Amino acid sequence: MAHISQTPVPPTSGVVGGSTSSDPAATVHVPARPATPAPASGTSAAFGSSAAFGAPATGTAAGARGAAKLPTSCDFTVFGGTGDLAMRKLLPALYSRDLEGHLPADTRIIGVSRSELDDDGYRAEVRAALHRFVEPERLDETVVERLLGRLHHLCLDAHDPEGWHLLHALLKDRPHEEETIRVFYLAVAPVIFGPTCNRLADLGLADERARVVMEKPIGHDLESSREVNDAVGDVFDEKQIFRIDHYLGKESVQNLLVTRFANTFLEPLWSSRWVDHVQITAAETVGVGTRGGYYDHAGAMRDMLQNHLLQLLCLVAMEPPTFVGRENVRDEKLKVLQALRPLTPADVDRLTVRGQYGAGLVDGAPAAGYNEDLGEHVPEGGSRTETFVALRAEVQNWRWAGVPFYLRTGKRMSTRYSEIVVVFKQPPHEMFPHATGPVVGNRLHIRVQPDEGMQLLVTAKEPGPGGIRLRPVSLDLSYATTFAERSPDAYERLLMDVVRGDPTLFMRRDEVEAAWTWVAPILETWAASHEAPKRYPAGTSGPYASAALLERDGRSWQEPDQ
Ligand code: BG6
Repeated sequence: MAHISQTPVPPTSGVVGGSTSSDPAATVHVPARPATPAPASGTSAAFGSSAAFGAPATGTAAGARGAAKLPTSCDFTVFGGTGDLAMRKLLPALYSRDLEGHLPADTRIIGVSRSELDDDGYRAEVRAALHRFVEPERLDETVVERLLGRLHHLCLDAHDPEGWHLLHALLKDRPHEEETIRVFYLAVAPVIFGPTCNRLADLGLADERARVVMEKPIGHDLESSREVNDAVGDVFDEKQIFRIDHYLGKESVQNLLVTRFANTFLEPLWSSRWVDHVQITAAETVGVGTRGGYYDHAGAMRDMLQNHLLQLLCLVAMEPPTFVGRENVRDEKLKVLQALRPLTPADVDRLTVRGQYGAGLVDGAPAAGYNEDLGEHVPEGGSRTETFVALRAEVQNWRWAGVPFYLRTGKRMSTRYSEIVVVFKQPPHEMFPHATGPVVGNRLHIRVQPDEGMQLLVTAKEPGPGGIRLRPVSLDLSYATTFAERSPDAYERLLMDVVRGDPTLFMRRDEVEAAWTWVAPILETWAASHEAPKRYPAGTSGPYASAALLERDGRSWQEPDQ
């Protein structure tokens, strides 16, 4: 295996800047909490339910081309502050930024939920979460204490005005209040986005210093996504709204842009002239876990393909923007989504596959089927929700006409990996008629996770005399071995982009709507069909129909061990 030797170049622009964070968090005095009813279970307008998982040109935003500087003071309010996303991802990400000295010095974090917790109770929960979700070698008790010192908790309900004045009082009660950036993170069910934003508006907190972060799923279909976007858009300007897709924050996904646009060698090859087809896979070994209530109403199409996979497709297929920043990237991604060939019901039957995992073996251990995993959430007669999707898409434009883009994602598959594979055409003429061994088509593997990196598969001559023996070899670029720096979690990057006011890596409303528009006929055709999703045993690569989708075209999926 050949290795590309690389000398890492010191970072210049675009790195996370900002001051070091040695200052203690500002002290605030929170008025006594009024008695609030204990949280009921269910989905009413509550905070604390876990939701599945770029800005305003204020004084801190940089010019169009430069990276904006971090402000020095920020109030970060997380609605759903005790939920799974906050504990598993958001607070560990903020801790990591604090550890690296990249959190604005004067940052406070306010968790809002329906839990009757005081600040100390919340700190105890967050401390436990940090010990659980931060890599042990990165746990520094001094920084843990510093982060905990930044925390506050408020018990609020989106549909109940009681207590909201406490949030107002807390946000107003700080030094440099008038320069403080306010981030409102909506880590709650989308149905609560609108009411929450209205409360913020009533309190006068939705001014031009505020930024609101929306977690996916944004709606259930085009119409409901419009409703959610309208409700938030009634309060916040589009440039204050950050729709997060955490795949866009992954290092290797950002590196895809750099590979394509900071180098020249790929560009002449990057089209239907030399590319045979593209494969995008996001495979997970986990099942639905404790998220059955959410997932059974979403399925793999809404949970992964409509957002993460289509975003990856956009980055592979988009035209070079004038420069990478602000609206340019989003403009180009939108054009790709709009160029996707709409699928008719007959196409849906032919070009899409949906599957659902049954019992099987994952990593050598028995794993239950989807219906069993759903537990109390299983509908009568069993669920018809897909946990796997594979499909063939086409981008109808000059560059990509006729090139299939095969997309696939699923839960409880054999291996956890996400990868983009660009498969180039075979050489047009056989030059080594007497050689032994295959002439493989070149392939560029962009490994999103794990082991982020890139491999280029080329055909080489096996060393030795006596004729020519051909062998595929791989030129490998592994981030872990090439760069000493740790790859930050996607949320670390994205949260700081929100604070900095950079919308480049966030989805704009028109993108979300274009994605829903394209998936709508698929969802509608599936809903109208009497056929159930095809069963696949847990721990495999999905139903046979997924392999057949490519076999019909004379192709096959690139599995990680190939
Ligand atoms: C989330 C989905 O957006 O992405 C989850 O809601 C999925 O169902 C997750 O497990 C996968 O993210 P990652 O970063 O682990 O690939």
